[in-house]
Amino acid sequence: MTRKLWRLDLRSAQIKTNGVDRSRRALLAGATIVTMAVSLLVVAPGTATAAPTGPCDIYASNGTPCVAAHSTIRSLLSTYNGPLYQVRRASNNNTMNIGQLADGFANAAAQDSFCANTTCVITIIYDQTPRHNDLTPAPPGGVGGQDNPAPADALPVTAGGHTVYGISVSGIMGYRDNSTSGIATGSQPEGMYMVTSGTHFNNRCCFDYGNAETNNLDNGNGHMDAIYFGTLCWFSPCNGAGPWVMADLENGLFQSNTGGSQNAGYTGNRNPYVTATLKNNGTTTFAFKDGNAQSGGLSTRFNGGLPTSPAGYRPMHLEGAIILGIGGDNSNTAIGSFFEGAMTQGYPTDAAENSVQANVVGVNYGGPSPVAGGTLNPGSTISLRATTACCTTRYVRHQNNNGVTSVITSTSSAADKGDATWIVRRGLANNSCVSFESRNFPGDFLRHQNFQLRRQPMDGSALFRADATFCPQPGMSGQGTSFSALNFPTRFIRHFNNNLYIASNGGSNAFDSANLWAADVSWVVSSPWTP
Ligand code: AHR
Repeated sequence: MTRKLWRLDLRSAQIKTNGVDRSRRALLAGATIVTMAVSLLVVAPGTATAAPTGPCDIYASNGTPCVAAHSTIRSLLSTYNGPLYQVRRASNNNTMNIGQLADGFANAAAQDSFCANTTCVITIIYDQTPRHNDLTPAPPGGVGGQDNPAPADALPVTAGGHTVYGISVSGIMGYRDNSTSGIATGSQPEGMYMVTSGTHFNNRCCFDYGNAETNNLDNGNGHMDAIYFGTLCWFSPCNGAGPWVMADLENGLFQSNTGGSQNAGYTGNRNPYVTATLKNNGTTTFAFKDGNAQSGGLSTRFNGGLPTSPAGYRPMHLEGAIILGIGGDNSNTAIGSFFEGAMTQGYPTDAAENSVQANVVGVNYGGPSPVAGGTLNPGSTISLRATTACCTTRYVRHQNNNGVTSVITSTSSAADKGDATWIVRRGLANNSCVSFESRNFPGDFLRHQNFQLRRQPMDGSALFRADATFCPQPGMSGQGTSFSALNFPTRFIRHFNNNLYIASNGGSNAFDSANLWAADVSWVVSSPWTP
């Protein structure tokens, strides 16, 4: 085990210059040579540590080995010693591989230090199996354009007692590998699981993890076999409010052989951490399950025939690409969270899936989720009330995609209350500051553009992230909190004629007026109108 530790440290210390983007294979080969040399010098015999058993050990011992395993949280396979993911920092475009600690969890501290005073995105999610089915930002497809990499620090969670980072996928983000090894093709059987979140989803296409087309196009029914999670109800009925686990088999998100749900009791899964499984024997049968990734077991939501009408799903026509966060044709307006996932060769047994769930529960996932109210802590849901004497019943809200204030009371409509509620996120461009994600348009954030505030989908660009980052400080009027714009630090979120701006005190624009400036830039962080 000591030998393993030294390997990890070497890999996690790898920093690549963007212009010299050597292949991972070359990188690993080089690292291995150095590692072997160092190992000879430092291995202390007898200092064994238990290697963590992961989901892929379980699948393998049940006869269905993993052919892909992805996680920014932890090692999913006890024999894997390599890096979990790669980040790229904005300051100089250098990249760094993030390796594992002794217990297999990600060395997030290395990321924090590499990304200090700049921002990082996740550029590679390494496959932990020997197949090298690594995921990188997805290319343009039949529907969406080139996908952006996800921010590296947007989803801090605790796992195994460590603070580590999940992958927070917004619109125009997603990952793909079109040139895989070992992934099911044609009508070969396969299984998969992922851990996602029931607090971060939408009804757009398609937050998927699994098997898809190799040319980024919709090649017809049966060309996909991926776990979907969200509230896009493709076939009626979908019971309850969701979000639901479904099977994206292409041209449809299936809850059964007939498309819609046949399970009245399945109304969705809003747990902060959700385990989802899918398996497909390629010719006759598919089954999917979900569970609370923090406790308990899995529930089978469907186990039965592959669809017969419409035709095309019996047998399947799998192509073997892997997607994450997008649809098979690169439809990329969905959002979601991804913590870990793997794909198998062969149809996993129920026993294997149950053991994987137990293994996931053992991780002790925890941390922020948008349920608490009224504080600027990341994950908290809040509303922001104006303090100027004219306007103390007015709240920051979005309306027609613009940032404005409105009077909101207990009798306001649910829509108005939703518009006036925000999920506090770690600042997208500086994690000492905050960003505000729309409560009712998840994935959209409050950002400034031409000094005016707007609600827009987070596109992952450095400009968007900076424009959507605000740094709290005591209210300029002596009351509440003021929020300076990260990239215009002398400008603060201000209401002026009920519109929202970033305004300086006495600048050249009408909205910079010094009159009432201090009061207009001071806000009370309040309990959320929509908890
Ligand atoms: O099957 C649902 C979606 O339909 C697929 O993910 C996508 O390829 C197509 O638009």
